[in-house]
Amino acid sequence: MKISAIKGFADILPGEIETWQFVEEKARAVFALYNFSEVRIPIVEKTELFSRSLGETTDIVEKEMYTFADQDGKGALLTLRPEGTAGVVRAYVEAELYQTEPVRKLFYLGPMFRRERPQKGRLRQFYQIGAEALGRGDPFVDAEVLLLLRDFFSLVGLDGVILELNSLGCVQCRPRYRKDLLAFLKEREDKLCPNCRRRMERNPLRVLDCKEEACREATRGAPSILDYLCQDCRDHFETVQQLLRDSGVDYKLNPRMVRGLDYYCRTTFEWTSDRLGSQNAVAAGGRYDGLVEDLGGPPTPGIGFAMGVERLVLLLGAKESRQAPRPDLYVACVGSAARSWVIPAVHKLRQKGISVEMDGEERSLKSQMRRADKLKAQFVLIMGDEEIKTGKGILRHMDTKEQLEVSLRGLEEALLARKVSH
Ligand code: HAM
Repeated sequence: MKISAIKGFADILPGEIETWQFVEEKARAVFALYNFSEVRIPIVEKTELFSRSLGETTDIVEKEMYTFADQDGKGALLTLRPEGTAGVVRAYVEAELYQTEPVRKLFYLGPMFRRERPQKGRLRQFYQIGAEALGRGDPFVDAEVLLLLRDFFSLVGLDGVILELNSLGCVQCRPRYRKDLLAFLKEREDKLCPNCRRRMERNPLRVLDCKEEACREATRGAPSILDYLCQDCRDHFETVQQLLRDSGVDYKLNPRMVRGLDYYCRTTFEWTSDRLGSQNAVAAGGRYDGLVEDLGGPPTPGIGFAMGVERLVLLLGAKESRQAPRPDLYVACVGSAARSWVIPAVHKLRQKGISVEMDGEERSLKSQMRRADKLKAQFVLIMGDEEIKTGKGILRHMDTKEQLEVSLRGLEEALLARKVSH
């Protein structure tokens, strides 16, 4: 019986995984440069963590979470994490990390789950590489986070990503904007999609984010948040932009970018690529200065981002240079004496850091050589009963076709010496 994977849940197999490993390795390198430490947080959390952090009227909380009742007899609701920020902040508060060092720069990588309609670059289980800088409200850290991303994209060789930037203001200035935006929307209510009409009162900003053409058309002349920022938010945003300009990072202001989560304030951003189709954000994030307090911690500002690994991998494509490393040696053996020699001998070589592949079935020498070729082994050692008897074998360099006789005792030295010289 053949059982297939669930729609929107993908396998990442050899051929593709090498690009994932490459991306993860570069991410770790850039996080080290910017002094971020790794955290691993649970994949399952109490549902209320997400409804409280992300907001009751967000798409994620309204319709995209994988939520189930625990089997604890009380039916407590649990959810597969749809994103990482809420869990990281919960952990920061729960472990009271702020007691010892209030400024924490943390990163994470792992799977997230959203029940969205699967399409190119959009899955139901997808991976994020994310980071959260907690405890700093200054605009320098906003710039630092954006520079980190710029550096990461350069490190992996990703071109053509554009930084879209906005400020969502703060609790001082956003209410006035919200009020004026709502008044603007009410005048055009009949032109909005049913979803926006329903959510408008509770979350008017979300209407600006609606993908429906009718809503886009109706909100064309909507007031801009950037005209409503209070002096502090204006100064903060201006400094972020100045720092980006001074560091040579291009960006585009997008006052309609409101982001899909309610915890945001001030600086928000998305890095987009026009090579991704409609799911064009490779990375996104922003400030969330009220979230730590909202989850029971002391007033602590925060800013972070998450990148979608599938989207990064799509953009980077497969590259020969990122394929799995080739084995140093392939042992082709013929005859029963050779076969019993091979396991302990190969084991010794592997213990010395030489990667070895071999044949366990009694296949012909020709087919073993074909396999060695396919695996792109650097060397092949051909072993027959005769070689065991004489204690000597033929080592063939597969690229140069050069062959040399080696004593089986000296095989390890011969390989290590050759490995360095080739
Ligand atoms: P987000 O915008 O919901 O933000 O997701 C961040 C990134 O995850 C997106 O830009 C996209 O690359 C990727 N992504 C999201 N949904 C999917 C999906 N269904 N399939 C594939 N990739 C997807 C957050 O998650 C925030 N927690 C980011 C953040 C961290 N803000 C502050 N700190």
